[in-house]
Amino acid sequence: MKQYLKYYASIYVIFLIAIVVMGTMYINDLPNVMQEKIGGFPVVTKDTAKDITNAAADLPMIKGTLSPPVDVMKYLNPTPDLVDKGKSIFTMNCVSCHGDQGKGDGVAGASLNPKPRNFQDLAGWTNGPSITMLYKTLHEGITNRGMASYANLPPEDRLDMIAYIRTLNPGYPPITKVQLDSIDVLYSLTKGVKLPNQIPVKLATEKIIQQSAGLDAKVQAMVNVVNANKSDTGAVVLKSITNNLTKAFTVLAKDTTWSNNESALVKIFANDPVQNGFRASASYMLTAQQLNVVHAYLRKLFLM
Ligand code: HEC
Repeated sequence: MKQYLKYYASIYVIFLIAIVVMGTMYINDLPNVMQEKIGGFPVVTKDTAKDITNAAADLPMIKGTLSPPVDVMKYLNPTPDLVDKGKSIFTMNCVSCHGDQGKGDGVAGASLNPKPRNFQDLAGWTNGPSITMLYKTLHEGITNRGMASYANLPPEDRLDMIAYIRTLNPGYPPITKVQLDSIDVLYSLTKGVKLPNQIPVKLATEKIIQQSAGLDAKVQAMVNVVNANKSDTGAVVLKSITNNLTKAFTVLAKDTTWSNNESALVKIFANDPVQNGFRASASYMLTAQQLNVVHAYLRKLFLM
């Protein structure tokens, strides 16, 4: 009887090993299994990502068109038809982030910080809820806060959407003739405007890379200035709180929240100091006066 027990024990061990081996094989094969499960949709890895970007259909190159002149005065009293049209343009372009009631609760906006604006709430806007500011937001975007420019949409579509947004709360500031005139003049709406060219994503990406080459040059120029300003208090203080000026300037160039706000600057100092080129002590070693000096100095540098 005892001999048999020994066999049972070894069969048990072999069985265990087999489970572990099969489990590992399954996990290694998981990408393929997933691919089958989701109907052959390619699973993106570092290698395939490149192929996919090359192969995927890109936006066609479209030459900017001239959009017809807009009669801005009709927005003094927008008709229900016009508001309806605004709503459908809004549905196509904006609900993914701003939500179908305009409450800022769209699925694509869930992970954004700041959250997309709730158009039913008139407090705490970045640009503001007046028609002039609404138009400005759509024209320029607030890109550092996750709101893109919609300058590629015809001006009339943008104004229609604004007319719709304004119906979401009765408290939007009334539209005046003066405001409409100023929008008209600022963006030459009665003359008709040329819409920007639509360019393929690939080209746009290359443009961004070029711009970042421009950034590198700017950063280098600022480093040179600081190194030359040996006796400037601003430069001296700045050097005392940084260990890599190039990295520090690159961080400051990408996050411009600090430019009007000293405490935002301190926040950047405190953020992952090893990576961003600031000394770990930078956020607490400065006196209020030194902070003031270095803030002013940085602003001057960035405005060069
Ligand atoms: C990718 C998500 C996203 C999409 C799509 C989007 N927005 Fe936004 N939008 C945002 C975010 C995020 C903010 C918050 C920015 C802020 O608080 O400064 C915002 C803010 C705004 C604001 C308020 C600006 C202010 O003064 O505070 C307006 C107006 C606006 N969006 C209009 C639109 C319209 C109209 C569309 C469609 C044409 C649109 N947005 C599409 C993300 C989005």
